[in-house]
Amino acid sequence: MAAIFPPKANVIGRAVLLAVAVLFAAGIGWWWLSPRTDWARRVGFAIDQPVPFSHEHHVAGLGIDCRFCHVSVEVSANAGLPPTWTCMTCHSQIWTNAALLAPVRESLAEGKPLAWDRINNLPDYVYFNHSIHVAKGVGCASCHGQVNRMPLSYKAASLTQFGLDAHGRHAVAASAAGALRHSQPHADGLLDMPSVNAPVRQWPTAVTQVRNDFSSVQTYDSVSPG
Ligand code: HEC
Ligand code: HEC
Ligand code: HEC
Repeated sequence: MAAIFPPKANVIGRAVLLAVAVLFAAGIGWWWLSPRTDWARRVGFAIDQPVPFSHEHHVAGLGIDCRFCHVSVEVSANAGLPPTWTCMTCHSQIWTNAALLAPVRESLAEGKPLAWDRINNLPDYVYFNHSIHVAKGVGCASCHGQVNRMPLSYKAASLTQFGLDAHGRHAVAASAAGALRHSQPHADGLLDMPSVNAPVRQWPTAVTQVRNDFSSVQTYDSVSPG
């Protein structure tokens, strides 16, 4: 009677076991990695909006201040998004027939606000307050990247770890206060502090244009993040 398993079977058996192990490891890897990718966190991807609003055009091109539209950013927790009539202060005069702006005109006519999709949205259990950060001289770009260069808005950085990262770094900054006591603002921006010998993860966006007032760094940590 011939053997049921020819000698070759050993090799095949091992190959199958190995393949299963590799697939299993790859699966675990994917399970761990996939929620951490920029894709999953929507970092760097523009999302569809009712109107293709361009910060690049309105801010860099026309020179409109952030606070013209995000009116409450200095005084409250929320920066706020502009109501339709903010757009209409100009667009009732210019580009009045543009198809791109039809949703804005409809919104005004029907009295229904434009439904902008949120780009930065922390989980509800996280309390974030804009006014505290802005008052302490943290520039918009430190967290949101170079919004004025964005033809369509996107999340510049995953802000999920922002508090830990930034506050950790501020704690280091406070203890190394001497090093930071120089009066001129850092050309590199608040989040990249070469003078502090801490393992600083490079913020993924260009923060070079952020000008910060370092005289406020000392008191920063006394402000509870809430
Ligand atoms: C003319 C009005 C206008 C000005 C000026 C303006 N924005 Fe905006 N901003 C908007 C509108 C409308 C949206 C919502 C649509 C979008 O996401 O692009 C928005 C969205 C954003 C978002 C994303 C909000 C979210 O959903 O998380 C950020 C961040 C932002 N703006 C920052 C800025 C900064 C920083 C400046 C100044 C450099 C600025 N904006 C100037 C109108 C404006
Ligand atoms: C201070 C005046 C002003 C305000 C406020 C303003 N816009 Fe504009 N917008 C302009 C000008 C000027 C243009 C460019 C027209 C051109 O290129 O000839 C423009 C162009 C546009 C365009 C065409 C695409 C582009 O960017 O070239 C869209 C869409 C637009 N605006 C949406 C909005 C929305 C939405 C708001 C409100 C959140 C808004 N604008 C607020 C002045 C303004
Ligand atoms: C310290 C980091 C930080 C700074 C500085 C900062 N933001 Fe934000 N911003 C956030 C976070 C985090 C969110 C999401 C908040 C949430 O989901 O509750 C956000 C959300 C927003 C939104 C969406 C609407 C809202 O109120 O949640 C706008 C618009 C915005 N920021 C504009 C600005 C502007 C304009 C500036 C500068 C004047 C600025 N931000 C400075 C971290 C920051």
